[in-house]
Amino acid sequence: MFEGKAAVITGGTSGIGLATAKLFVARGGKAVVVGRDPKRGAQAQEELGEHGKFIAADVSDQEQVKKVFSEVLGWAGRLDFLVHAAGHTRDKLVVRMALEDWEEILRVHLTGGYLCAREAVRIMMKARSGSIVFVGSVVGLTGNVGQANYAAAKAGLVALTRTLAQEAAPWGIRVNLVAPGFIDTPMTAALPEKIRAGYLTRIPLGRAGRPEEVAEAILFLLSPQASYITGHVLCVDGGLIPCA
Ligand code: NAI
Repeated sequence: MFEGKAAVITGGTSGIGLATAKLFVARGGKAVVVGRDPKRGAQAQEELGEHGKFIAADVSDQEQVKKVFSEVLGWAGRLDFLVHAAGHTRDKLVVRMALEDWEEILRVHLTGGYLCAREAVRIMMKARSGSIVFVGSVVGLTGNVGQANYAAAKAGLVALTRTLAQEAAPWGIRVNLVAPGFIDTPMTAALPEKIRAGYLTRIPLGRAGRPEEVAEAILFLLSPQASYITGHVLCVDGGLIPCA
């Protein structure tokens, strides 16, 4: 399905991003995975084989992001898709949250999404086609105790998605967002068992999601099967929240 196509996947060395990269390569595409940890990057590149490439970069750093996209063009000769899945959490109640916890999370998820999308769209405009998927979160739609920084960043990604979808549509570029619920990845593995169990009781489908289940939704939105879908928020959450 993705033969001859190239994608940049931020956070592609782990969890949802890596599952997306693997599926994309398995379906014929070439994937550049971007992450901060060279060790994990080398491992991901090995798992992806010759159609995968790791580039070390911090997505919140403008110069590093620019370098990523010029390297992608050098390696793949084109750019068809962007998936922005990079991110982490620094959970605290607002009253205890330091400014640096707030700013760090906004920078990685939201500023990183803007920086990567800006470079991607500049390239895609020349080709007059392309598709972008941001990885948001249901928390960006509902809020969540202890995650004001993360929820605000993810809500910002929804606004970025809906705005960029309108701005880029004349060039045939689509922009969408998947909002995962509770997915089994290294990020959620770090949660205390009590919190994990609490989430699970609230999920109508009665289990955590698998990274591959989110990857399928991402690839659907990237693919020509979604050719009339843009500016959309797709929840992949086992029914956790009724999506707007
Ligand atoms: P993960 O921890 O397995 O993967 C996140 C990746 O982002 C890692 O490879 C990490 O190195 C990379 N990363 C973090 N900061 C970065 C930076 N500044 N520059 C470049 N790379 C950076 O986590 P997971 O669960 O796969 O998360 C992927 C995305 O999905 C995140 O945006 C997360 O917020 C979102 N998400 C995850 C959910 C879950 O239940 N696991 C639920 C909802 C959203």
